[in-house]
Amino acid sequence: MQNCQEIAKGLYYLGGNDRRIALFESAYPVPRGVSYNAYLVKGGKNALIDTVDNAVGDVFFENLAFALAGEPLDYVIVQHMEPDHSATFARLVEKYPSVTVVTSQKAAAMLKNYFGFAGKTLLIKEGDTLPLGSRTLTFVGAPMVHWPEVLFTYIPEDGILFSADAFGTFGALEGSVFAQKDVFEREFLDDARRYYFNIVGKYGVQVQSVLKKAAGLNISLVCPLHGPVWREDFAWYLQKYLTWSAYQPEEKCVAVFYASVYGHTQNAAEIVASAAAAEGVRVKLFDVSVTDKSILLSEAFRCSHLVFASTTYNNGIFVNMEDFLNDLKAHNFQSRAYAVVENGSWAPQAGALMESVLSSMKNMRRIGEKATVLSAVGEQSREALIALGRQIAEDVKA
Ligand code: FEO
Repeated sequence: MQNCQEIAKGLYYLGGNDRRIALFESAYPVPRGVSYNAYLVKGGKNALIDTVDNAVGDVFFENLAFALAGEPLDYVIVQHMEPDHSATFARLVEKYPSVTVVTSQKAAAMLKNYFGFAGKTLLIKEGDTLPLGSRTLTFVGAPMVHWPEVLFTYIPEDGILFSADAFGTFGALEGSVFAQKDVFEREFLDDARRYYFNIVGKYGVQVQSVLKKAAGLNISLVCPLHGPVWREDFAWYLQKYLTWSAYQPEEKCVAVFYASVYGHTQNAAEIVASAAAAEGVRVKLFDVSVTDKSILLSEAFRCSHLVFASTTYNNGIFVNMEDFLNDLKAHNFQSRAYAVVENGSWAPQAGALMESVLSSMKNMRRIGEKATVLSAVGEQSREALIALGRQIAEDVKA
């Protein structure tokens, strides 16, 4: 119970950190772990905001009992049914059988499907209110942020917003429950971006819609289900979400992604990158066979200009590049400038095939013609690669 903190008067943080998890959602590496947050609101009646993943179930129940201090648990608000927040629900209703479950109709159906739960339930929708006494809970619909049943909870008396998965991040908490902008920018921002684009990046329109609703609220504290709580500088983080959800690049820079078997395609990518960097623009290179695809996705969304360089393999795109491009498309990737480099020893095909995937995305703009390397960079292809790098740099600076 050492991490049960009263973060505002009558508001308790009940979450826990998992630093042993390797893959979040069995997909995303989290070398710095992840936190699962839950909160208890006291205001006459006591309301729990979500539960937690099984990994931190024991500490959560200890924290909850400590925060309740012998008082009854009147309500549990189920904002989001994904099991990283609902896995301990069945244990909760067993321990607190008189609790009223407050949730959306869609979440109630999921409670039945996951747990066979058909107990005391109060169905709510956007605009409904639940008075606790000195505080009132109100609800804001947030469909597809990140599942369809999601609700945010807002306390108008204190300006406290419980934002479900929104404004969360990978990375366990480092002692403090509260975000500090400088520390967050240095230690969490890359993980926050990677979390956003991999988990909810596909649903930018829905995120924009809920951000518009939140813009009308007076907010003093933002309590997400992962990562730190925001009590200052939230406008800075909100601006990141506005940029990300609008599919706008965060930085005018070049990300060069390459798939190379014996190093010749890498060499071509390095030549393009060097030519662009020599013109004074910021460039980063990624070997798509080495860097985790969650990082590739996040970096593609961060940058304004992208280069895709792939060898031809089995008469197609090299498999790791093909996976990456398909992942971009699956996440609704759009609105970027790009260039294509291909390699092939007898029948180069990768360029046309990459172009076909990239041009099927929304608002994509190709820079220059595709550059072709035949086996290894020669005098002619070297000139073409340098020219392409310079052309990209000019476009970045335009
Ligand atoms: Fe953190 Fe969509 O669950």
